Amino acid sequence: MIHVKSEKEIELLREPCKIVRDTLSFVGSKIKAGMSTKEVDELVERYIRASGANPSCLGYGGFPASACVSVNETVVHGIPDSQTILKEGDIVSVDVVADKNGYHGDACRTFCIGKIAPETEKLVKVTEECFFKGIEGLKAGTPLYDIGYRVQQYAESFGYGVIRSYTGHGIGREMHEDPSVPNFGRKGTGVRLKAGTVLCIEPMISLGNWRVRLLDDGWGAVTIDGSPAAHYENTVVVREDGVEILTL
Ligand code: MF3
Ligand code: CO
Repeated sequence: MIHVKSEKEIELLREPCKIVRDTLSFVGSKIKAGMSTKEVDELVERYIRASGANPSCLGYGGFPASACVSVNETVVHGIPDSQTILKEGDIVSVDVVADKNGYHGDACRTFCIGKIAPETEKLVKVTEECFFKGIEGLKAGTPLYDIGYRVQQYAESFGYGVIRSYTGHGIGREMHEDPSVPNFGRKGTGVRLKAGTVLCIEPMISLGNWRVRLLDDGWGAVTIDGSPAAHYENTVVVREDGVEILTL
């Protein structure tokens, strides 16, 4: 069941969303070659706690860290560790969820470490553009799967793979609420979204094939063909006349 938020609840959501946004820009200013993914996680945890919020991922379903840090062919849910050292040419997605006022905000950015292969740099740019394609025309009354339809059309026009087994989601008092928001779909299908619906829209796009497998740690998902993947996410509110992006 989709829980439509009141204006009062949306006000409470603003703070965790801003904290997530600021955490990611802080990480973006610090992340560099030579840093371990564990150090990235520590930056995230410290920033969130200093903001008076809690890292929602820590302990969620047993997840052992505050951020998901996913390098190159790891699409999502990478577990940070001290052995994985970032190097020039890597792309790293940092997915951050914070809990404040009893509400969660969720966003992800993919960072480039130093100089990146041009085709990978383009993948990162297009993945961000996929989010903006996905929300184009989105407002109260839009069928849910129009979002994925638009993301998929755009991503596949570059020959990229759209990850199928992970999706966006609703968010609020819970980190994952209904509805599931796939990055693929058929135009004109799915429930018509109501004003006040809060969604995490998060294209996950690979340079090659879209198929993924789970790592032995039970969390990290990697592309089967080893191609790099990018991830870009914001928390948005559906409004009568458009969307409001809370994590930008
Ligand atoms: N933004 C991620 C998601 O929606 C956060 C996952 S936190 C984890 O899936 F604990 F599940 F890893
Ligand atoms: Co999310």
